[in-house]
Amino acid sequence: MMKLDIIAGARPNFMKIAPIIAELDKVSDKIKYRLIHTGQHYDKKMSGSFFEQLGIPEPHFNLEVGSGTQSEQTGRIMERYEALLMEDMADWVLVVGDVTSTMACSIAAKKLNVGVIHVEGGIRSNDLTMPEEINRMATDAITDVFYTTSEVANDNLRKLGHDESKIRYVGNTMIDTLLKNMPKFNKPEVFDELGLKEKEYFVMTLHRPANVDEEEKLKELIDEIVKGAGDKNIIFPVHPRTAKMLDNIGIKADNLHMIEPLGYLEFNYLVKNAFAVVTDSGGITEETTVMNVPCMTLRDNTERPETITIGTNELVGTNPDNVAPYMEKLQKGKWKKGSIPNLWDGKTAERIIADLLKY
Ligand code: UD1
Repeated sequence: MMKLDIIAGARPNFMKIAPIIAELDKVSDKIKYRLIHTGQHYDKKMSGSFFEQLGIPEPHFNLEVGSGTQSEQTGRIMERYEALLMEDMADWVLVVGDVTSTMACSIAAKKLNVGVIHVEGGIRSNDLTMPEEINRMATDAITDVFYTTSEVANDNLRKLGHDESKIRYVGNTMIDTLLKNMPKFNKPEVFDELGLKEKEYFVMTLHRPANVDEEEKLKELIDEIVKGAGDKNIIFPVHPRTAKMLDNIGIKADNLHMIEPLGYLEFNYLVKNAFAVVTDSGGITEETTVMNVPCMTLRDNTERPETITIGTNELVGTNPDNVAPYMEKLQKGKWKKGSIPNLWDGKTAERIIADLLKY
């Protein structure tokens, strides 16, 4: 019987592990798994509500590392996960995405000769000012099996010299979750409170340090978006990191509505029915691609180029001066039409488990 650890730490991990766990429950006679939550995200709004809505079982362990600097979090996760492994060793650890927990657990495991499986391996922004890029590089360097979401990722891994046999293009588990839950999307209260109408409002999310850690720039960016949105409302669920900054700036505009982070089903209800999305998240660019909603990414690079070459996303950059022309294109109805990358079909977790059973 294979002993497999599944790691989840921060909000964007939860939608990626949910379908994997659902599939693992079907093969419990062959693979015994432990779900380990590192506790990197701990608020109900950032963590608990995702477990509830996506039907993820209670983790077997919670390392409760909480907030801290990059290295504090990394250190605490490694120390606590190592202790857990030394008590009861696993054969494999499966990590997803690019958060601090992803890197910390793969390193702790690999140093104890536990095999590392990286779901969403190989993607690169080539921007080493992002903590996520360092997490991706470090994790991929010691990964034994890559389950990839992107043909570009496959090429990146080949260029890095990884053997073809380690690279398995399976699609995107985040999209498994999206497609499975679409019928359950749930209108958030804010929709009727503000009298929103389908395809007549924007959804915005911002949390990258490059955008939110500098007050002046954050203010200028938001001002440009508010201007470009015109008479359309902007619904802005605010990440805790951004909330701290916004408190100091005190931005106000009639069409800008800042709200608490939403649950998965509520957030994606808003996105699905939005006129367009403005974001600096990576995952959201994949979801808007699949839901065929125009998406403006406020970043200078992306590790998910297929959301642009194939999908509905455009890279606007982080310079506030860049915003207006894209807003104009949107408002004039001149946004490009997108399509959906190969194998983003809702069956990725099935493919992963079928492959795991061959180990
Ligand atoms: C992390 C991930 C990022 C992901 C994002 C999604 C890394 C390096 N970054 O960034 O890739 O897109 O999550 O949310 O792993 N906080 C709370 N409640 C929580 C969690 C955090 O209030 O439940 C606060 C923390 O105290 C901190 C801030 O939010 O001040 C940022 O949290 P942190 O986990 O450090 O990184 P994120 O910016 O959320």
